[in-house]
Amino acid sequence: MKSIFASLAALACLTGSALAQDDQDLIARGAYIARLGDCVACHSAPGGTPYAGGRAIVSDLGTIFSTNITPDPKNGIGAYTESQFSDAVRHGTRADGAHLYPAMPYPSYGKISDEDMRALYAYFMKGVQPVDQASPRTDLGFPFNQRWGMIFWNAVFSSSTTFSADDKASDMVNRGAYLVEGLGHCGSCHTERGFGMQEKAYNASSDAFLAGGELNGWPVPSLRAKGETGPGITGWNEQDIVDYLAEGRNRFAAVGGEMKDVIAHSSSYMNEQDLRAIAVYLKTLPPAASEKTKPASASTDTASRLAAAKNLTLGERVYIDNCGACHFVDGKGGAKIFPELDGASVVTGKSPVGLITTILAGAATPSTPKGPSVNLMPGFANRLSNEEVAALATFVRGAWTNDAGVVSDKEVGEIRAHLADGASH
Ligand code: HEC
Ligand code: HEC
Ligand code: HEC
Repeated sequence: MKSIFASLAALACLTGSALAQDDQDLIARGAYIARLGDCVACHSAPGGTPYAGGRAIVSDLGTIFSTNITPDPKNGIGAYTESQFSDAVRHGTRADGAHLYPAMPYPSYGKISDEDMRALYAYFMKGVQPVDQASPRTDLGFPFNQRWGMIFWNAVFSSSTTFSADDKASDMVNRGAYLVEGLGHCGSCHTERGFGMQEKAYNASSDAFLAGGELNGWPVPSLRAKGETGPGITGWNEQDIVDYLAEGRNRFAAVGGEMKDVIAHSSSYMNEQDLRAIAVYLKTLPPAASEKTKPASASTDTASRLAAAKNLTLGERVYIDNCGACHFVDGKGGAKIFPELDGASVVTGKSPVGLITTILAGAATPSTPKGPSVNLMPGFANRLSNEEVAALATFVRGAWTNDAGVVSDKEVGEIRAHLADGASH
């Protein structure tokens, strides 16, 4: 009799721990999916507890605060059922029925699979510590404070469709498409927005998808990478894309602007297969008709003028004195350390904001598991006047094969004031 009890108890223990193990696996998978979705980037205030919300997101509608998504029952989402959680993440409806603003990228997250949603829910309920902290209330002016208005926005603009795999494509391409269109919400920055702030496309059915745009003035490059020598990153191979997403640097480029956070919090945590799938998928997208093709032959003129160092313009002189030591006279830098300035999206973008910001404030690569060293570029705000920075930026934007517009002293002055303002807060 006793031995039956003992074996029953042992059995109960066994199933108990087996269940717990399943649970643990699901939570761990959910943690990885939260990384793929970069939930932490928006749902944490600078320096605040992860997922406790309170980050101010500046949008065309006004400032929207992200919410506390820890499982705290009062201030967080502890009281959300699995289906309420899914409705919030995939369809933009809060548990109380109110509509979320699309600062939360639910038009992309609508493509997350049921299976991934289950793991994500398990993680947020059981893998995240509750934080008892209210996030600031979002209070937009009329008419945007009328959340019901989002019903119309959703009806007109939000795809909110589920992911549809392409039967003719490989599993790997489909995995890449799933990550890019859905969890990665890459289009929320890399696809231009239309008149209603909606992304012009949410999948590859239109060549506006991932064709690039601007984010608070910083140029966001096209990710349409099919080919070898066309515009944008067509010259990058799969490994170059993988390196960039894993380490924030590759043989051509180093990351700057808001992409730095995407790499630091999300893509540097992606496993090798998922990174590869994204790269393989991006290499299937041909450049958009709107993308300018690079001039066929590089001009060697700039490099030889700089090397000869005779009758230099102000911009050329400032370049040699301040930049040439790292980025060299040919603008090619050094693989994985000093990025190329010849052809870089931040240099040739329609808007010079990213370039001017980099010159004034400097830049640093993120430290990631695969690329732990931080490569630093000093800021030149204290060394160069507005006139010198404008001449330098104008020179760099037209040097080598670059063919972008002139920069004025006034533009530099505005960005300098903006940076000084940001630093004093
Ligand atoms: C680009 C920024 C951004 C990202 C990335 C993001 N969110 Fe959000 N999320 C928001 C904002 C902003 C709100 C609040 C919107 C509002 O008040 O209408 C929100 C609201 C929510 C809500 C509703 C909570 C409530 O009761 O108000 C949930 C749940 C949520 N997000 C979960 C997630 C999860 C899970 C992820 C990752 C898969 C994620 N979010 C990624 C910006 C983001
Ligand atoms: C929050 C906005 C944002 C999101 C989301 C985002 N990106 Fe970016 N991305 C940028 C910006 C800005 C740059 C330009 C970086 C620079 O100037 O150095 C960039 C640059 C890149 C580049 C380098 C291209 C080049 O020409 O140098 C690649 C590759 C890239 N992103 C891939 C992705 C992928 C894949 C995703 C989705 C998993 C993604 N990005 C999501 C903003 C974003
Ligand atoms: C001491 C070496 C050094 C000097 C001097 C230097 N840079 Fe850099 N630069 C770097 C490094 C390292 C990076 C990569 C950091 C990053 O963007 O992650 C970089 C990045 C850049 C970028 C790319 C930013 C992006 O978002 O992709 C531009 C543009 C740039 N530098 C322009 C300049 C100009 C113009 C000068 C002269 C005023 C200059 N640099 C001087 C080392 C240097």
